[in-house]
Amino acid sequence: MISDLASDKLNFIVNINLTESIRTCVHCSLSNNLPKVVVSRGSPDASLMLIGEAPGALEDEFGEPFVGRSGQLLDSLLNSVGISPTHDVFICNVLKCRPPNNRKPTKFEIEQNLPWLEQQIRLVDPSIICLLGATAVDVLLGIKGSLSTHRGHWHDIDGRLVMPLFHPAYLLRNPSKDPGKPFSLTKNDLLKVKDKLSTFRI
Ligand code: URA
Repeated sequence: MISDLASDKLNFIVNINLTESIRTCVHCSLSNNLPKVVVSRGSPDASLMLIGEAPGALEDEFGEPFVGRSGQLLDSLLNSVGISPTHDVFICNVLKCRPPNNRKPTKFEIEQNLPWLEQQIRLVDPSIICLLGATAVDVLLGIKGSLSTHRGHWHDIDGRLVMPLFHPAYLLRNPSKDPGKPFSLTKNDLLKVKDKLSTFRI
């Protein structure tokens, strides 16, 4: 039987190899714009994975997902419910490169990027996945339409718990912290996630 240390080492090596493969990806035309490929941030050992849509301008500049205003809001929300953005989560996107002018990803781009995301999910092996915004929800759950209806509900994908959440960019556009508004609904959703996470920690 493989020891915990050996399995950690193996995961580390597979993660480095996967990251390198994603960085040299030319599967779709987004790579023609010579973007910085944005793979992930956080911990590959985390039980919680957050999946957004695609890198924006700052993410493209720094090569990390969710480092702009949306990311700052996301981190402060996670911290406020006691989830560490560095240790407790692995954060990535459906697309690994920034679409020009932050346009919506095309179906083709999503299809070309999906195998990377699937490998990330397999490697990180999270117990819980939160889908940030409509694109991730559509791609992973096949659910279209308003997130107001779908957010905060648990789904199952291959034995993993999956919850749609409002995208942090939507919260920036709807900043009210009143009860029943998107911000406090998202905080409540994250509290549910935190609760569930604690049941996976022995
Ligand atoms: N929005 C996303 O969906 N992902 C990022 O990395 C940044 C903003």
